[in-house]
Amino acid sequence: DLYNLRLIGSDTKIHGVIGNPIGHSKSPHLYNAAFKSVGFNGIYLPLLVDNVANYISTYSSPDFVGYSYTIPHKEDGLKCCDEVDPIAQAIGAISCMIRRPTDGKLMGYNVDYLGAIGAIEEALRGSNGTPPSVSPLAGKLFVVMGAGGAGKALAYGGYEKGARVVVANRTYEKAKELASKVGGQAMTLAELKDFHPEEGMILANTTSVGMKPRIEDTPLPKEALKHYSLVFDAIYTPKLTRLLREAQECGATIVYGTEMFINQAFVQFERFTGLPAPKQLIRDVLARNT
Ligand code: ATR
Repeated sequence: DLYNLRLIGSDTKIHGVIGNPIGHSKSPHLYNAAFKSVGFNGIYLPLLVDNVANYISTYSSPDFVGYSYTIPHKEDGLKCCDEVDPIAQAIGAISCMIRRPTDGKLMGYNVDYLGAIGAIEEALRGSNGTPPSVSPLAGKLFVVMGAGGAGKALAYGGYEKGARVVVANRTYEKAKELASKVGGQAMTLAELKDFHPEEGMILANTTSVGMKPRIEDTPLPKEALKHYSLVFDAIYTPKLTRLLREAQECGATIVYGTEMFINQAFVQFERFTGLPAPKQLIRDVLARNT
């Protein structure tokens, strides 16, 4: 009973998630349940796609109004947009595409960073009571480990919120390139172990180190974690990575990778429907499907 089948007709708004593979995606469950709960006449499908350009040109029907993009199509998707939001352009990848109702143009956005940054801000607000008009990341030293798609998203997000960004990556050149774009400092992951110019820094892991099945790996040794007040890990399998467990043992606030996905779903839902996201329902659906 997830779907609003009664409502399906010529004015139903069709959405989907474009990826390959796609069978594991929780998004169809999540958005169909959320659409139904607010009475929005839309459906959301899993779309196994090989070639994004071919797909988009074939299904350019105005009824297809919103797409989410997942691995490996976030970069290809960007090339199929009529217009791209400046942040998505800078990141070089989109996470959602929306057909503008006025002229049918396909607009590309990247809300991945809003999911992660939103979850970090919420956790920081909870601990220090910053007023809503100011980002609790402003002025903070924000260390991003990794310089791939997710690393870029976090680094741009931190920069936009006024944080002092540090990019630490296994391959120094990639850290340097990204850091230069966000006015930040670059170093290798090895150098990060001895980097602690101040206490209370914020750390975000976007490398794949510690992901299932290699759950005993960690991108930064425990000794280094005591200099951080908050640690976020973009990995969500397992939910509690070794990095997060050790950070917690060192007294840091931890933010799970699952929060990034949940917050991103809120943002995408609002972009797709123009309605406030049913936050508790989305959390419940995800909890049931994990
Ligand atoms: P995503 O889109 O999830 O960010 P990605 O673009 O493939 O994925 O980026 C993977 C990141 O994890 C990179 O920063 C990569 O470091 P390199 O630039 O040096 O390749 C990092 N990474 C992957 N495996 C790693 C490992 N074993 N040790 C350290 N860093 C690793």
